[in-house]
Amino acid sequence: MTTFRLNGRDVTVDVPDDTPLLWVIRDEVGLTGTKFGCGIGMCGACTIHIGGRATRSCVTPVSAAEGADITTIEGVDPEGNHPVQQAWRDIQVPQCGYCQSGQIMQAISLLKDYPSPTDEEIDAVMAGSLCRCMTYVRIREAIKKAAANARGDSSNG
Ligand code: FES
Ligand code: FES
Repeated sequence: MTTFRLNGRDVTVDVPDDTPLLWVIRDEVGLTGTKFGCGIGMCGACTIHIGGRATRSCVTPVSAAEGADITTIEGVDPEGNHPVQQAWRDIQVPQCGYCQSGQIMQAISLLKDYPSPTDEEIDAVMAGSLCRCMTYVRIREAIKKAAANARGDSSNG
C-alpha cells in the first residue's frame, strides 16, 4: 500500500512498489490529464509536481510517492484558471494538445525559480519538454506573459 496526497486529497493504492506513478495516476486514480509519451523520462508529457517541483511521473516509482504532496494538471486550479493556464489560452498555445499538460506543469515550476525568465532560462528549463507540433515559440511567449501578469506588468515583459 502507498498513501500520498493528490490534488489536495489523500489517496491510497495497492500496487507493486515499482509501478510508475504515471500509471497509478491514470489507471488507479483515473486522472488522465497526465500523458504517456516516451516512458523513459525524455519527453516531459508525464510531468507532475511532487512537493511543488516538476517531476517525470513515468520514471518515478509509486514507492517514491509515499507521503508526498502531488499535483497534476487537474489540481493546479479548480477552474483551470491558473495564471499559466490563462496565458496559455490568451496565446492559444496548443496545437494537438497532447504535450500541453506536461508543458504547463513544467512552466509553473519554472516560474517559481525564475519569476522574470529570460529566453535562455526558458529554453534551458523547457528543453526536455518536447512538442511534436512545434509550439515552442508560443510556449515561450505564454511563459513570458504569465510572468508579466504576475508582476502586474501590462507590457508582457
Ligand atoms: S512519458 Fe515521461 S518523460 Fe516522456
Ligand atoms: S501540441 Fe501537439 S505535441 Fe505539443
